[in-house]
Amino acid sequence: MTRNIGILGAMAQEIDEVKALLTEKTVVKIANREFVVGKIGNVRCVVAFSKWGKVAATITATLLIQEFAVTDLIFIGTAGALADGLKVGDIVVSKRLVQHDLDARPIIARFELPLLNRVYVDSDPDLTALAGRAVTNLINKGVESIVGKEAVKEFNLNPTLHFGDIASGDQFINSDEKRNEILSLLPEVMCVEMEGAAVAQVCLEFKVPFTVIRTISDSADHNARVDFGKFIVEVANAYSRAIVGEIMRLM
Ligand code: ADE
Repeated sequence: MTRNIGILGAMAQEIDEVKALLTEKTVVKIANREFVVGKIGNVRCVVAFSKWGKVAATITATLLIQEFAVTDLIFIGTAGALADGLKVGDIVVSKRLVQHDLDARPIIARFELPLLNRVYVDSDPDLTALAGRAVTNLINKGVESIVGKEAVKEFNLNPTLHFGDIASGDQFINSDEKRNEILSLLPEVMCVEMEGAAVAQVCLEFKVPFTVIRTISDSADHNARVDFGKFIVEVANAYSRAIVGEIMRLM
C-alpha cells in the first residue's frame, strides 16, 4: 500500500514551515481547518495545523484519518520539560502518551482511558525509530545549519535526543507546583504538552501507527510563558521543517 503520511503541528507557524516543503499542493478546508495535500520528496503527505488542546487535535486527527485516509500520523511541536536534565532545544520522541488531566475516579483508576483499560498508549516502534534517526542525523549535521548562529547562542542550543513518555492535558503548565504534581504522579513522564495523547487515542482506535516529536521550549515552570513565546518564533519553526524533511528523506 502506498503510504500517505498525516503530519500535524501544534503551532500555525510551525506547520506553515512544513507546508512550504510540499510540492503538487492542493488545499482542502473542512471544519475551520486547512489540510494541505501534496508530496514531500516522493512521499505523499497531508499537512494540517492541529489547533490547540485535546479536543481540537482529536477533531483534526480524525479528519486526517477519515477524510484523507492517512496511513501513518506524525505529530510535531514543542513541550515543557519535566524530566531532570532536559534543556531547551532538546528533542523528545514518544514512547508512550498519557492524559495527565484525565480522572474518572472512583469509577476507574486515575489517568485510565475510559473503556480502553489502559493509562498509556504506545507509539509505533518503527515510526518512532525512524523519527529518532532523522533527529540524530540533524543533530550530527549541526543545529546551527538549521536555526542559524544567533539562535544557537541566544538559546544556548546543544540538542540531545530522548525517547520517553509524554503527558498531555488541556492546560499550559507554568508553575512549579503544577509541574511537580504531574511529576510526582507520573514520574516517568519527560515532558508536557496539550495534544499528543489525544491524537494517540484516536490512532489507537483507528489502528493508525503514530509518533509524537516534541522540542523542549520551556521548563513548564514560572518562566514558561516567556521562554515558550520566544522559542516558537526563533527556533521551533525551523526545527519542525528540518525534522519533517529528514523523516521524509529516510522514508
Ligand atoms: N507546550 C510547550 N510548553 C508547554 C507547557 N509548559 N505546557 C503545556 N504545553 C506546552
